[in-house]
Amino acid sequence: LRQIKVDDDDFGLMTYDPGFSNTASCRSAITYIDGEKGILEHRGIPIEQLAESSSFLEVSYLLLYGHLPNQQQLDEWVHEITHHTYVHENIKRFMEGFRHDANPMGMLLASVGALSTFYPEAVDIRDEEQRHISAVRMIAKMPTLAAFAYRNAMGLPYVYPDNDLSYTGNFLSMLFKMAEPRYVPDPRIEKALDVLFILHADHEQNCSAAAVRVAGSSLPDPFSAIAAGVAGLYGPLHGGANVAVLKMLQRIGSVDNIPGFLQGVKDGNERLMGFGHRVYKNYDPRARIIRSHVDEVLEATNKQSVLLDIAIELEKRALDDEYFTSRKLYPNVDYWSGIIYEAMNIPTDAFTVMFAIGRTPGWMAQWMEMMDDPELKIARPRQIYTGAREADYVPMNQRN
Ligand code: ACO
Repeated sequence: LRQIKVDDDDFGLMTYDPGFSNTASCRSAITYIDGEKGILEHRGIPIEQLAESSSFLEVSYLLLYGHLPNQQQLDEWVHEITHHTYVHENIKRFMEGFRHDANPMGMLLASVGALSTFYPEAVDIRDEEQRHISAVRMIAKMPTLAAFAYRNAMGLPYVYPDNDLSYTGNFLSMLFKMAEPRYVPDPRIEKALDVLFILHADHEQNCSAAAVRVAGSSLPDPFSAIAAGVAGLYGPLHGGANVAVLKMLQRIGSVDNIPGFLQGVKDGNERLMGFGHRVYKNYDPRARIIRSHVDEVLEATNKQSVLLDIAIELEKRALDDEYFTSRKLYPNVDYWSGIIYEAMNIPTDAFTVMFAIGRTPGWMAQWMEMMDDPELKIARPRQIYTGAREADYVPMNQRN
């Protein structure tokens, strides 16, 4: 784009768009969102159909390769992922070096970045075979890293992958297996977790995907680019919101305290976590699907959730309240996921790593698409400079 300058000193025409609310950073054919209508489609297929009929690994293939796999392609894909779940023993030792109370997301961020040093050939980003094997490794190893981070937080020995189980079943085994023989996952929990992963699989240019693209635009290996995505996901306004929702519900503590809490939100003292979205100005379709699995998981784990009662009442009141409806604030994907994770006995600090596992194929798909983009340029935004100009250096003995 040519800059319009009025004179030599002028920096030219710039768009100033904090948070990039109105800036398209790329062309993409992966995920379609209509935020006003609450529509989400991957490669054109509605999320409701994928959650109902597909599996997380099939959706991963769809995101990466643009079409649903036929039976042979799916079998080969599942086989490949299943046989790349192990991580190098030094990665295990690397993770053992963290403090006992290290945040699992911090551990995940560091260990995903560390993968780049174990697969230096991944830097050959123009080679399609390398890209493919990097995608396989990233999707296969993310649950192993996430489970190691969880076991570290619990002070438990690591459990090696069981490649005879499904993707989700193996992850549950790595989290919860206590003794031989094999861990047998409850099929209801296995299914619900698979659906949760599908619902998190991609969401176009969100903060973490944008971070992957920005870091990836300087052409590092994909593991380094994905580590940038994990960092973007970490914060409470993005993936960390599921932790913040649960802590919020615990703090509210009882249905009786909801009116006072909502008043605090309206007074601007805090946010109603799990509500609001940059793109959805309607009920997030993913939140609706997750909600439909909450009761099933509670039944499978034989749990009563006090927090569920608070969440149901809080949602009802917020949806009846002009403050929230006038700002088009509706529940997002994180509102209900924490209740499911809690019912599955996953500690609160590990919720965001669950999101990271689900989002991994989306990050890889965004990165792969960018690698093939003939218009790819290094991400290098401009700024509106507001600081001093042509100031003199002041020697130390003359400073105040
Ligand atoms: N609670 C209370 N008020 C809110 C909330 C909320 N959760 N979200 C937005 N608002 C209000 C803002 O105060 C603002 O009000 P105003 O017009 O009176 O100033 C208005 O709604 C618009 O809010 P913005 O901050 O401009 O919206 P933005 O698009 O920048 O933020 C975000 C989106 C970050 C998701 C925001 O809604 C939020 O903080 N939500 C809570 C955190 C959360 O749930 N994050 C998860 C998002 S989904 C995901 O990452 C998978």
